[in-house]
Amino acid sequence: MFVARLRLVNFRSYHDATVEFAPGLNIIVGRNASGKTNLLEGAYFALRAASPRTTKEEKAVRWGATFARAEATIEARGGEGSHTLAVAYVPGQGKQVRVDGVDVAALDDLRRQGSVFIFVPESLLLVKGSPARRRAHLDAFAAALDPAYDGGLRDLNVVLKQRNAHLWRVREGAPADSLDAWDRQLARVALPFEARRRTLVCRLAERYRQFAAALAPEGGEFSLSLVSQLDGFDGAAEEALVAALRARRPGEIGRAVSGFGPHRDDLKFAEEALAPSAEADAAAPRDLRLFGSQGEQRAAVLALLLAERAVAADATGDVGALLLDDVMSELDDQRRRLLVGALTAGGQAIITTTNRLYFARDELARARVIDIGAEEHGGRQTADEPADTGLGSPDG
Ligand SMILES: Nc1ncnc2c1ncn2[C@@H]1O[C@H](COP(=O)(O)OP(=O)(O)O)[C@@H](O)[C@H]1O
Ligand SMILES: [Mg+2]
Repeated sequence: MFVARLRLVNFRSYHDATVEFAPGLNIIVGRNASGKTNLLEGAYFALRAASPRTTKEEKAVRWGATFARAEATIEARGGEGSHTLAVAYVPGQGKQVRVDGVDVAALDDLRRQGSVFIFVPESLLLVKGSPARRRAHLDAFAAALDPAYDGGLRDLNVVLKQRNAHLWRVREGAPADSLDAWDRQLARVALPFEARRRTLVCRLAERYRQFAAALAPEGGEFSLSLVSQLDGFDGAAEEALVAALRARRPGEIGRAVSGFGPHRDDLKFAEEALAPSAEADAAAPRDLRLFGSQGEQRAAVLALLLAERAVAADATGDVGALLLDDVMSELDDQRRRLLVGALTAGGQAIITTTNRLYFARDELARARVIDIGAEEHGGRQTADEPADTGLGSPDG
């Protein structure tokens, strides 16, 4: 599917603007503060009813306005029909989501309509930020792809919540052996869920490695892996996990929190040294979270998004839309060509830039170029009102 049309009403700097996109590569050109990031955020908001930049949705409401609305028309490839997705946010009242004009209560009904992958500057937190953020990202991707993953995650969360409540009761004096049943429950849901998560991460890791090889700065080989307390329990019987939980019981009762299980998993972005040097520890993988440069972290996130899109496409037959905010300026020329190559290999990509010269002549010729404000280097005159500049007239 692809986003054919986007309308933003009172969304960030946009008063009321409509833009039409091509099914392939779209290049949004505009100087700083012309609304490029806002535009991608708006597209994502229409497809996901969430901002990739903030959980405080009131920030997306244009200053002084009473609501924000993003509407996208998405089209299936091969012309099998189109749908309109509309997400409105009213501060104090929350979100209203419509698909083809009909209110939908569950966000899943919106998200099932089309898949979208976005890079905004805040996306670097995927590598730099907390394990919880990485888990949430992985889970959102996986749940949309695989209902069994979604179901397994819900079951896990229910059991963890109940088990935590029970740990608290035991700490307050209930008999400790009443936890036996909860240990078994946790083991029963955790192991199959973990197996599913592991399979998915393996599939992602393979694609990730390929994309990262093209995008990462020269050096070692980038890898993605799942780090889990359950690593040793691969294919093991429930008994082994039950025993491990039993051994940790005193500490868990003290904290009244389940501290062992898939809810403590993490994704690790690392660089494996290619040719071990003379130094003894040179061959140890380097954790990009702690030691990656900004450029390496950016390459890691981009490679993950491309990997997700590829894995989702393998599973569903549909290539999702990719929204990339200002990633060209940080890449060298060779990597720009490789990235654009990956973007145009199929599927829609909408990419913003301050300078169209980051793209090669033939790339520009094949893309739809959408000007939303004078470019940083040369080009047109500076507009006074970013909100009202040429969004309505895409050329190409
Ligand atoms: N809620 C809002 N209402 C009005 N303007 C906003 C809002 N949020 C951000 N802006 C404005 O949007 C502009 C930045 O847009 P942005 O999309 O980040 O620009 P770009 O990515 O092209 O550099 C800034 O001028 C900022 O003040
Ligand atoms: Mg920006």
